[in-house]
Amino acid sequence: MAQIRIENVRKEFGSFTAVQSSTFTVEDGEFFMLLGPSGCGKTTTLRMMAGLELPTSGEIYIDGEEVGMKPASQRDIAFVFQMFALYPHMNVRRNISYPLFSQGVPRAEVKARVAEVARILKIEDIIDKPVGGLSGGDRQRVALGRAIVRRPKAFLMDEPLGALDAEFREHMAEELRALHDRMGATTVYVTHDQLEAMQMGDKIVVMNHGVVEQFGKPQQIYDWPATKFVAKFIGSPAMNFLEFEGMVGIGANCIDLPGKRVDIPISRQGAKGKLTLGVRPENIHFSDASHYRGRVIATEYLGTTQIVTLTTPNGDVKARLASSQLINPGETIGLEFDRRTLTLFTEEKGRALLSEANEGVLQNG
Ligand SMILES: Nc1ncnc2c1ncn2[C@@H]1O[C@H](COP(=O)(O)OP(=O)(O)OP(=O)(O)O)[C@@H](O)[C@H]1O
Ligand SMILES: [Mg+2]
Repeated sequence: MAQIRIENVRKEFGSFTAVQSSTFTVEDGEFFMLLGPSGCGKTTTLRMMAGLELPTSGEIYIDGEEVGMKPASQRDIAFVFQMFALYPHMNVRRNISYPLFSQGVPRAEVKARVAEVARILKIEDIIDKPVGGLSGGDRQRVALGRAIVRRPKAFLMDEPLGALDAEFREHMAEELRALHDRMGATTVYVTHDQLEAMQMGDKIVVMNHGVVEQFGKPQQIYDWPATKFVAKFIGSPAMNFLEFEGMVGIGANCIDLPGKRVDIPISRQGAKGKLTLGVRPENIHFSDASHYRGRVIATEYLGTTQIVTLTTPNGDVKARLASSQLINPGETIGLEFDRRTLTLFTEEKGRALLSEANEGVLQNG
């Protein structure tokens, strides 16, 4: 069990900065997601935690101890890669027990620990089979088994399900989460899939171009994105951006869109000029009473819900509505927005303005 803290950690490769000064804490026992698009520095961050890469500057603490100079082998952390590297000429049992033999663990204990891992991962029936003929999912379980059997303080997983097909991925994701809930070991998990991060994570760090954009619980990040980047990256369809010129004073509780005064959470900061109102698709409702009108340009049927695209005076928006609601392309409809999760972004840096509703979340990083 371990707490892992990253403090002002930065990584340069020559003149290129892969990770800008990053700070966050993975609490003991958490299932922690490192999320972001390709090339944003997820793997580099994970490799620094593991000791496979040295930070250019900054500190990494494991259970309060600074580990900067400690080699990977002494950090008691298991790394699970996307491409599960198994020993093809050995059977499952040998693959799992190999790390223990190389640590000099007595034979009887190795036997007991491998049996326990096989039971946890439900691979008792394949334990004596060669790994060469196994399916992707079974190979992934064996790779996990080899990490678990060491009983490390923490697991670091770099897109461990990336090589599996969609259906199996979902199944393994559930298994991994259930396994974590049984064992309670701190896990840092890298993914570029926002749904996977939302479903599996206790907490999420969202990275972009080597910068930590936000850090928090999945629902906090979904409801209160700190930046436009996070707002676009999390959620499908993405948060709508309604652009307008205007002014928000400290303590303001509304903004003016063409033909409509919109109630917003009380603003703790002021701003003027180009502003963006962020609205989730499910927080848009149709109302004949509203003078803020949108014209339907498309509908997309998704089973229980439908996505309706509308043109408004502030740009196109997507609304998520019940499929039972009858909507015709071409018709013009009045729109209302839920006040609760409306987010205002300023133009420079695309940061969210602090409001009564999001201040607890945006100040936690
Ligand atoms: N050893 C290296 N030398 C030079 N540049 C590197 C090195 N390792 C990584 N980089 C660069 O640093 C940036 C971040 O890489 P990293 O592998 O951490 O990204 P990632 O978020 O894991 O991306 P992906 O989702 O594609 O795996 C990339 O632009 C990459 O090309
Ligand atoms: Mg990577």
